[in-house]
Parts: sequence; C-alpha cells; structure tokens
Amino acid sequence: MTYEGPNAVPSRRNSPSSRVAARLIGLGSWLPSRVVTNADLSLTLDTSDEWIRTRIGIATRRMADRDTATSDMAVEAGSLAMKSAEVAHVDAMVLATATPDHTVPSTAPVVAHRLGLPCVPAFDVGAGCSGFLYATTVAAGLIHSATARTVLVIGAETMSAIINPTDRTTAPIFGDGAGAVVLTAGRAEDAGALGPVAWGSDGEHTDAICIPDGGSRRPPARPTADDNGRYVHMQGSEVFRHAVRRMSQAAKDAASATGWGTDDIDRLIVHQANARIGAAVADALGIPPERVPSNIAHVANTSAASIPLLLTHAAAEGQLTAGNRVLMACFGAGFTWAASTLTWPENLKPFAGNGPALSGDRQGHVDRPGVSTDLEGGLS
Ligand code: UT7
Repeated sequence: MTYEGPNAVPSRRNSPSSRVAARLIGLGSWLPSRVVTNADLSLTLDTSDEWIRTRIGIATRRMADRDTATSDMAVEAGSLAMKSAEVAHVDAMVLATATPDHTVPSTAPVVAHRLGLPCVPAFDVGAGCSGFLYATTVAAGLIHSATARTVLVIGAETMSAIINPTDRTTAPIFGDGAGAVVLTAGRAEDAGALGPVAWGSDGEHTDAICIPDGGSRRPPARPTADDNGRYVHMQGSEVFRHAVRRMSQAAKDAASATGWGTDDIDRLIVHQANARIGAAVADALGIPPERVPSNIAHVANTSAASIPLLLTHAAAEGQLTAGNRVLMACFGAGFTWAASTLTWPENLKPFAGNGPALSGDRQGHVDRPGVSTDLEGGLS
C-alpha cells in the first residue's frame, strides 16, 4: 500500500532493509513517591478538584523531592528496563528529556555511568513531549545501520522544576517520572519490532510551549525583570487543537504504513497530555475507549516519560498482552509529533517502580470534546 499524506512514511515491510528491526525486549518505569492531589493544589491555586478532573482528567500527580533530579529517575527506570530485558550491557543509550540536570553537559552520560555502562555512547534527545518516540526512532536507526545492536532508551522528566507553581494554566497539568525500554536487533516480522514512524515538527509554533529564559536567546546572564521567564509558558487551547490534529494524522499515517485499519488496532497508546485530547484522538481514529489505556488520572502529563510510563503501567495491569497490535502517538513543544506501531511481544516482563495501579481509568471518563481533525485519508 502506498500512502501519500503530509506524514507519509515508507512502509518498511517489503523493503530489503526491513529485515533488521528494533525489537522491544525490556520495559521499566519509576515514579517519585510523593503524591500531590488536586486538593493539595487548590490550597495555593485558584482552581478546584472538579475543574482539573473534568477539563484534564487528572486526580493526582507524582512530584520529585528537591534532591531528586531527572538523572536519578532515569537511572531507576533504566535499571528496571535492563532487568526486564535481562541484559547487563547495551551498545548505546538515548535519553529523551526536556528537563536535563544541567544545560551542559547532557544528562545521558551520567545516567549511563551510574547504570554501570562506562564509555557507552550516550546522548539526550530534546523534542518535548514527543521525545520518547523521537528517541526510539533514533535508536531504531542505530540498530538498522548496525551501529548498535542493543540500545537503552529512557524518557525522564522533572517537570516540577520548570513549572510555575502559581500558574494555574500549567501547574495542574504536569507530573514527574521516568520510563524506559530496551531495544535490540530483530526482524521486522518479529513481535515487538517497531513499525514505521510518522513524525514531524512545525517551528512556527515555537512560542506555544516555551521556556523563554535560560537558553542562548535570553541567557541567564541577562535576566528579565522577573524570574517568570524560567518557567513553562503555554497557550493551552492552541496546543490542544494542534495536539489532536497532529497526533491523529500521525497515528493514522503510522497505522496505514503498517498496513493496519481501525479494526486491527487493539490498543492506542496516546501521550497523556490531557484525557480530553486522548479521547479526541481516539474518536478521530474510530477507536473505542476500551482500547485506549490511560494513566493520566494518577501521573498527569510527564512529557517525554509519558509513553514508556503508560506502556509499563498498562502491561503490568494486563491491558497490553502478547499479540496486541499497538499504535503509539505523541505531541509536544516545538511543535513536534510522532507515531509508530508494534505488536506486543510474548514474555515481556514490565517492572513498574512505585506503581500506580491504573484502577480501570480510561480516556472515556471525561467529556469528549468533538474536535474536528480533518484527517487526510481515512483508516478503514
Ligand atoms: O503535552 C503537550 C503539551 N500540553 C498539552 O497538550 C496541553 C494542551 N492543552 C490543554 O490540555 C488545555 O488547553 C488546558 C488544560 C491547558 C486548559 O483547558 P481548556 O479546557 O482549554 O481551558 P481554557 O484555557 O479554554 O480555559 C477555560 C476557562 C477559563 O476561564 P474563562 O475565561 O472561561 O472564565 C480559564 O481561566 O477555565 C479557566 N481555567 C481554570 N479554571 C480553574 C484555566 N485553568 C484553570 C484551572 N482551574 N487550573
């Protein structure tokens, strides 16, 4: 099947290079133990438990204590993923994060060092909430080109470090955590092999989710009048609209390139930005709520950690089982977006450090917004 769309991706299924693929063999996640409820936030913010539940779908989020940085959570999740894969060594490590420990150096080398992977090539990927699928795509490329055979990919975020606790338009949304996978060389037809990727970016919307200060545009040495510029600024409804449209289209493109129609998709794993966004993407693709696992109620939006955290939690709860055809989609600052597929492998043992149980939460529990997506080409 040839698909000509804005996110058109070559199908890997029949190409000669498709014989090698990145196969999922390990899965782990870790959450800080401090639970912050909506009621906790309402003590200092002009918001309410009811507003946050119905408009975003979040009940609680985890927050790191002051001594815990992104690398600390990445090490925990990475270690659990390696334990899950039963590997003691990998050939490369990629860390997706928007909240590195420092601007310089990147955070991946210290994570690799602390995981007992000395001298392993290790680097950060920055693509906001799309970071994890960007990082798995880079890792798959390393495996395809035989540059690496086995790669550890981690998504980890300390969102609480970059969120203004007095800003009610961002503070309720985000949480901290980390998730990780181990990918190894396999064959495209193997269960667990990552399928085609539909991804993209649109820098026209660079200001829609942005930390204005602290980079080369406005370095810390030239501070503005207040310190508000060091926090995330987000144009919420603008981001909402684009998130639904881009994730829906990318998900559709990735599914089409894999040769899947709507009925073939057993599970939709969508970035946990807002439960209403997840519901709108599912509606746009025609996927019923019972096929859309969710953990946003308990962990909020953990940016680049969102997809691997949800994969781990859903697998641990038996919501992802061998043979399930899984479609993943994410969207984030930049804007950036990505979607990909895989068939869930047998004998994958997820390790979810510090919970939580999903308690049957699904995207369908919130008001479904009915956002128009104008998808190009329909999933049949
Ligand atoms: O991970 C990728 C990046 N992030 C996202 O994808 C997030 C995308 N955006 C969203 O999830 C939603 O747009 C938000 C959750 C940020 C906001 O929800 P919304 O339904 O789009 O609300 P809104 O911004 O349109 O605001 C509606 C009302 C406003 O009041 P008025 O003007 O109607 O009187 C806001 O002032 O809700 C008010 N509001 C709040 N009220 C109580 C905004 N934030 C809050 C709050 N508590 N925390």
